[in-house]
Amino acid sequence: MKEIVKLDISKTDGFLGDTDVVALEQEAVRSTGLLYDGTGKGNDFLGWVRLPSSVSAEELARIGRTAERLRAKADAVIVIGIGGSYLGAKAVLEAMSNPFAAWAKKQNTPRILFAGHTLNEDYMYELMDAVKDLSIAAIVISKSGTTTEPAVAFRIVREEIERRYGKEEAASRIVAVTDREKGVLKGLSDEEGYETFVIPDDVGGRFSVLTPVGLLPLAVAGIDIAALVEGARAMERATGVDVPFAENPAARYAAIRNALYRKGYKVELLASYEPKLQYFAEWWKQLYGESEGKEGKGIFPASVIFTTDLHSMGQYIQQGERMLFETVISVAESKHKVRIAPEEKDVDRLNFLAGKRVGEVNRMAEIGTILAHVDGGVPNIRLEIPRLDERTIGALIYFFEKACGISGYLLGVNPFDQPGVEAYKKNMFALLEKPGYEAETCAIKKRLGETK
Ligand code: PA5
Repeated sequence: MKEIVKLDISKTDGFLGDTDVVALEQEAVRSTGLLYDGTGKGNDFLGWVRLPSSVSAEELARIGRTAERLRAKADAVIVIGIGGSYLGAKAVLEAMSNPFAAWAKKQNTPRILFAGHTLNEDYMYELMDAVKDLSIAAIVISKSGTTTEPAVAFRIVREEIERRYGKEEAASRIVAVTDREKGVLKGLSDEEGYETFVIPDDVGGRFSVLTPVGLLPLAVAGIDIAALVEGARAMERATGVDVPFAENPAARYAAIRNALYRKGYKVELLASYEPKLQYFAEWWKQLYGESEGKEGKGIFPASVIFTTDLHSMGQYIQQGERMLFETVISVAESKHKVRIAPEEKDVDRLNFLAGKRVGEVNRMAEIGTILAHVDGGVPNIRLEIPRLDERTIGALIYFFEKACGISGYLLGVNPFDQPGVEAYKKNMFALLEKPGYEAETCAIKKRLGETK
């Protein structure tokens, strides 16, 4: 099989000794095995490992039919969710879309608007204001069905849909993606007669983009979800437990980033020269941050888009504290060609670029920056993908998921829980005097100097 994701670790050579990676090879092989035999930490959340090969044609067809219904009914579909119930769809949508299409009115699919990923009041007001003259529908996504941010947004969106269309029609404009049986959202959906899609019990939020969590909104947006899943399937095969370490890009990436971490490189910068990957990097940050950042350990995931951020973060990367390594996602082919024209007078002194494509200039910036950063003490991992299309993005998603599972085990943590996320919720509920939080309310008010 032609590699979809080519991993180049040659620019880490000067930073690691031969034995650093060799030492991790055996551990990475063992960690890959744990994902397959289910004997590692968090083993009740391993449904994503074989997910691409288990998505059925019937499921894709059902998602397609529902997407078609929403597309027929709505000019704007509001997708409500947070964290793993938001970032995957947002990432793929941005990677696949022409950012100017809606503005240039070239779009023949509904606008996809996201809500429930913030509690910001102005965002909510402005979103509802933006859709006041558009027909609307909603997809509400929450595995637990109890997360505050999407629950608040859904109440507001649901009321608006019911006000406009009545309860019966609202039921055909609202689709829920949630747990098979648990949670308030499941109960509400059953009561109101919303169509529901299930998030499998054994797939955690940040590993759920290839379930209806990601696939349904993406299908509404006109993304080829079959190709997305097919790309992920190819990567599932390419990173399987039987693939030797030397040929398994996910195991090698996991090993090399942990070797760097153990040498003191504590921050990984995901860099790309493709602005459409900005939200892909956000998805990646959640995947790695929530999976690895625990027990006082973990590589801090950060991201930059070049060359834009070379004019903001470039100085630090080149000469700041030396605890960074960089992982560059390099896209080999652009979709379109834009050439720089020659000018007779060359007043702007740019004729040295005349005849070149903008992409060639971007490529030289990439090669030059990698060398400069390596010279400045930043080890570099390069991941090359052929182009931005559904198949490639599907493969890249699964590549990072697999590497994340392996990497979490190399780190010695449970990569599939997120106990730390509860701390802010406890305080927020105490401050909002949620029933059941009376003792916490009392304690937090004392701490803030208020009495109760
Ligand atoms: O990865 C995770 O599990 C989290 O980021 C969740 O996706 C996020 O907290 C949203 O949870 P839920 O889908 O239950 O509303």
